[in-house]
Amino acid sequence: MPGRVARAVNIEDLRRIAKRRLPRAVFDYIDGGADDEITMRDNCRAYDRIMFRPRCAVETPAVDLKTTVLGTTVSVPFLFGPVGSTRMFHPHGEEVAARVAGAAGTVYTLSTLSGTRLEDVRAATPGPAWYQVYLLGGRDIATTMLERARAAGYSALVVTVDTPVAGMRERDLRNGVKELLTRNPLHMFPYVWQFLARPRWLAGFLRDGGLMKFPNVVLADGPMLYADVGTALEQSTVTWRDLRWIRDFWNGPIVVKGVHIGDDARKAIDEGASAVIVSNHGGRQLDGVPATIRALPEVIDAVRGRVDVMLDGGIRRGSDVVKALCMGAKAVLIGRAYAFGLGAGGEAGVRRAVDILRADVIRTMRLLGCPSVSQLDRSYVDVPAEWLVTRGERQPVA
Ligand code: GLV
Repeated sequence: MPGRVARAVNIEDLRRIAKRRLPRAVFDYIDGGADDEITMRDNCRAYDRIMFRPRCAVETPAVDLKTTVLGTTVSVPFLFGPVGSTRMFHPHGEEVAARVAGAAGTVYTLSTLSGTRLEDVRAATPGPAWYQVYLLGGRDIATTMLERARAAGYSALVVTVDTPVAGMRERDLRNGVKELLTRNPLHMFPYVWQFLARPRWLAGFLRDGGLMKFPNVVLADGPMLYADVGTALEQSTVTWRDLRWIRDFWNGPIVVKGVHIGDDARKAIDEGASAVIVSNHGGRQLDGVPATIRALPEVIDAVRGRVDVMLDGGIRRGSDVVKALCMGAKAVLIGRAYAFGLGAGGEAGVRRAVDILRADVIRTMRLLGCPSVSQLDRSYVDVPAEWLVTRGERQPVA
C-alpha cells in the first residue's frame, strides 16, 4: 500500500485507495454529505467556474507560501480543519494527522468529536494547534474540556455554529451506522460484513482499542459514547449567547466556523470572533446552501478587513487553494483531502496529501507569475459576475 500512496498523483487517487482500504461505513462517513449532496458537490465544482488571469514572462525562482492567521505564521496557506472520528480512519489518527500538520508548519485543529485525548494530540505536533468546540453535555462539561485545552496549549478555539442538529447523512443510515452502534449483535449482524471484508483495517482498529468513545467529552458517567452524539448535539446548539460565554471563559482567540452570510459574519465579530471560517461543514449539514467559494465574496465584503476570513470545503487541488486566496481568504482549511490520505496510508498518506497540495500551490503560483501568496488578489482571477453581487444592494463588489 505505501507504494500505491507514494504513486498517488492527486487527492482523488488517495480517495480511491482509501475506498479500497476502509470499510464502507467508514469511507462513506468521510466521503459523504447531507441529503442529495448538492452542496458537497458544489463545494468542489464551483472552483471550475473561476478562471485564472496569469502574468507571463515573470521569474518566480522561489515562491513564498507563508501566510499569517491569528498572528501565527504558517508555512503553507492550508490548515488542517477539524474532522470527527479520525481514529476510525487509521489507528491513532488524530495524533498521526497532527504530527504531519506540525511537520508541514501548519495548524492542526482537533475536533471535539475526537477519539484521542486532546493532551496526546497536542503533544504529537510541534506546530500550532486549535481546538474545535461543540458544547456537548452542556456548559459545565465544556468548562472542563476548555480548561484542559488551555492547559494543553491549544492557542485558539474554533467554535462551530452550523450544527443545531446533525445533517441527514443518508449513507450512514444505509450502512447501518445506527444499528452498529447499538452493540446488539442481532441488530448489528446485517452490517458487519463491511468490516470483515477489510481484515487489515479491522486488525488495526481492534489493536487501537476498537469502537472509540470521546475522551474529551467527559460526562458524569464517563467519556461520551458514540451512540449518544446525535442527541448530545441537539441538546447543545451553540447560540450567539453561548459564543459570548465561551469568549469570556476562554479569554483568547476565537474563530467562528460555519458562517454563510455577511450578517452572521458581522454578528460573529460583534460577539468577539478574531476570525471567521466560511464553511458549510463540507456539505454535511444543510444541503442546498451554495459552495463556500461562492459565499466568500459576501462575507469578505461584510467583514471589511476587520478580521481574517478563511474558508473550507471542496479543496482538492493547490489551484483551489490559490483561487480561494485570490478571492480574499487568508488561508483555507482542508478536511477530506487529508482524511483520504490518512485512510489510504496512515502517516505516509497524510504526508502525501500535503506534498501534493504544496507542490500544486507552488506550480500554480509560478504559472500565474506570482511570487508570494500575500500578493494574490482578485486581479488574478475571473469570477462569474453573479457571485460578486452583494445581497440587497445588487451592486458588483469592486
Ligand atoms: C461532525 O462534525 C461531522 O460532520 O461528522
